[in-house]
Amino acid sequence: MTSDRLSVVVLAAGMGTRMKSDRPKVLHEIAGKAMLRWVLDAAGALDPDRIVVVIGPGMEAVAAAAAPHAAVIQEDRLGTGHAVQQARPLLNDLLEARGDDSGEHGDLLVLYGDTPFISPETLRAMRELRRSPQGGALVALGFEPSDPTGYGRLELDDQGALLQVCEQAEIDADPAKAALGGIRLCNAGVVLAEDRLLFELLAQVGNDNAKGEFYLTDIYGLAKRQNRRTAVYVAPEEEVMGINDRCELAVAETLAQERLRRRALLAGATLIGPETIFLSEDTQLGRDSIVHPHVVFGPGVALGSGCEVKSFSHLEGCRLADGAVVGPFARLRPGATLGRGARVGNFVEVKNASLGAGAKANHLTYLGDATVGDGANLGAGTITCNYDGFAKHHTEIGAGAFIGSNSALVAPVEIGAGAIVGAGSTVTQDVAEDALAIVRGTQKQVEGGARRFRERRRKKD
Ligand code: UD1
Ligand code: CA
Repeated sequence: MTSDRLSVVVLAAGMGTRMKSDRPKVLHEIAGKAMLRWVLDAAGALDPDRIVVVIGPGMEAVAAAAAPHAAVIQEDRLGTGHAVQQARPLLNDLLEARGDDSGEHGDLLVLYGDTPFISPETLRAMRELRRSPQGGALVALGFEPSDPTGYGRLELDDQGALLQVCEQAEIDADPAKAALGGIRLCNAGVVLAEDRLLFELLAQVGNDNAKGEFYLTDIYGLAKRQNRRTAVYVAPEEEVMGINDRCELAVAETLAQERLRRRALLAGATLIGPETIFLSEDTQLGRDSIVHPHVVFGPGVALGSGCEVKSFSHLEGCRLADGAVVGPFARLRPGATLGRGARVGNFVEVKNASLGAGAKANHLTYLGDATVGDGANLGAGTITCNYDGFAKHHTEIGAGAFIGSNSALVAPVEIGAGAIVGAGSTVTQDVAEDALAIVRGTQKQVEGGARRFRERRRKKD
């Protein structure tokens, strides 16, 4: 029996100096998801046996973002070849698990943490190529950028096998290599290789070059000299664009938004003025949902079918059941849940609170840490006072309850099903089911008082 093992190493030790940021480059987000997670998700789609992320010293936040995958620290940033070697101790058991004549295969895939749009389709195609008759012990990923400057150039033989990769720094430093600068086909960075061979080749890579670094790309020339064939798979440029500064990050965001809008439209949601609607990579819009212009979806939003989100609303970490209607000018924060046909209107903020089916909070309301039963109606200006300066407390509003306008519900407090709270109440005690609670000063009326007041004022003048 043969088995195909796959290990993945993601290189993310670089400082990302050109981002001019205190945050490691791979943690910058595109469509609400860290660059590193885009790469890990693409790798994960291949169902590998293990993923190891190579990080720099002091990058605990990157290790945390890589979890549950293992992270290994590259103490000194000595080049991409050196970086891959750091992962070896975490892969040894997989490499050694199979005997030389066991008939088992093991591949290692190397990805760069700053190349977020690599697709599982391309990675799968590289695996197929590696197993095909034209494949070899190694597969490199090439692309033809509009401007090849800065990339390693791929030099091929007549059969399309790779002879070597020449880095830009070497082309710049050696006039004998200048001609290679004219090659259009460039190295995207991704490597797929027989795992043990890859580490054997890396052990032979030196740093006697223009940058004094151990180049991962030197493995190809070494493989050629050992009569090992490297095939090249060519990917579209958008998939392998590297993010080095915030201009490239902005371009990546624009590209991601275009794709996500297209995906949502094709899945049956209507987006009015899609170019003004911002989605997250995980946004789910149900069939026949309508999103009006200028709506922002942060991470973790799922809409059922037939929902409507009106203009200038901001949603994150929330779920809407079928037919729920939100906005305009609504803010749904993490933990907001709307039942079937529930309505949240203008200038309403909902955080860690659920509204039952058909419940309504149509105007000027704050609902935090609350449960609202089916069909309850919250009048304009209803506020759950959930925070006492130290801790958060819960408010429970029963099904069919009616909260009059401008009421403050001081948590922890419970309003029973079917109860009515009179407008302007500050409720500090539980209200029983079907009870009527009014908490406000008694209205005083002085007959003719207004007229007498005006007369007194006029005399003074
Ligand atoms: C690299 C390739 C080049 C290719 C280009 C594609 C090498 C020598 N060159 O060049 O052929 O055209 O990518 O974008 O591989 N990293 C580490 N540790 C290190 C050095 C780098 O983890 O010691 C990581 C970086 O964080 C980054 C990735 O490896 O994620 C690539 O490194 P970078 O310095 O950006 O390589 P390039 O010069 O762009
Ligand atoms: Ca780069």
